[in-house]
Amino acid sequence: MIEVPQAFVNGTVQREGKRGASWVEELPALVAELLDRWGCVPDGDVLHGGVGIVVPVLRRPDRTPGVIKVSFPHPGNVHEPDAFAAWGGQGAVRLYERDDAHFAMLLERVRASSLAEVEDAEEVALVAGRISRRLAVPAPDGLPRMSDMAAGWKRQLHRDQAEFADALPTRTVDAALDTVRELGGGRTDLLVHGDLHARNILRADREPWLAVDPKGWAGDPAYDGGTLLKPLIFGHVMRHGEGDLRRVAHRILDHFAEAAGLDRERTRRWAQFHLVQAAFHGRRRGFRIAREGPRLDLVTQFLDRLAETLTPYRHPSHP
Ligand SMILES: Nc1ncnc2c1ncn2[C@@H]1O[C@H](COP(=O)(O)OP(=O)(O)O)[C@@H](O)[C@H]1O
Ligand SMILES: [Mg+2]
Repeated sequence: MIEVPQAFVNGTVQREGKRGASWVEELPALVAELLDRWGCVPDGDVLHGGVGIVVPVLRRPDRTPGVIKVSFPHPGNVHEPDAFAAWGGQGAVRLYERDDAHFAMLLERVRASSLAEVEDAEEVALVAGRISRRLAVPAPDGLPRMSDMAAGWKRQLHRDQAEFADALPTRTVDAALDTVRELGGGRTDLLVHGDLHARNILRADREPWLAVDPKGWAGDPAYDGGTLLKPLIFGHVMRHGEGDLRRVAHRILDHFAEAAGLDRERTRRWAQFHLVQAAFHGRRRGFRIAREGPRLDLVTQFLDRLAETLTPYRHPSHP
């Protein structure tokens, strides 16, 4: 039986309560059944991210390295295998097997190191941009559309603005709302990773880097500039100090957009929206890197500054 890492057990129970506790309890039996069904044997320590465990395996009979990933049953994790299937190994790890009822997949195994280990933020943005370009294939049917999610995003921003009235300047939240209104209904035909940041881009052999952990949406890949920027600029500032935050953020986003073949303005606007969302989200739920206390305050204040600095000086609705 595999051993589920204690930090993953704690995180899941803390986030999901009783349902999380009974799910982690049943994980070893589920993994044992999947190993058997998919003809695999365990091959190393169990890894984990925020919402899933990753079990390194060897596939019989040829001992190809793979991983079995089992995610917590959550609507946000439903379309991950659909995205991998659509990419067919181009820019992302290959999908070998799937068990959608159990939120489980057998994936190609790549190396243990991620793009987050690369210190140069502009280099990271370029690599992520090149990956984004390869992932922007026609979206298969049935994925959540960003255009449908836009209404919910707008409602949530209005709720956040009312509840945390002093958090961000009105023009900052309004610019995010304008982005959802003006860009949300735009592109609907491309597959969007949805959580493309450096820890979800792993070192590989058949290509230098491959993506993992997609949400699998249909919409505008420029959205992923924001998911990339948030942890990347945080790490950069920790190492080099804040400096000219606006300039640093724009350079990262522009490198990403250029390499991805995306419109620069659209990428900046989605990133601004994403940072506004994150600043409010932190106030409600905290972050994985800072759940509460003074550290959470520091991260939240940093996100506030970033959201503000990414807000266009002269937004069309505030001439
Ligand atoms: N195909 C893979 N090959 C090798 N390691 C992987 C693979 N997929 C995931 N991992 C490792 O497991 C970690 C968590 O996986 P990820 O899919 O990002 O899960 P989460 O949704 O929990 O973030 C990754 O950061 C990486 O270290
Ligand atoms: Mg991940």
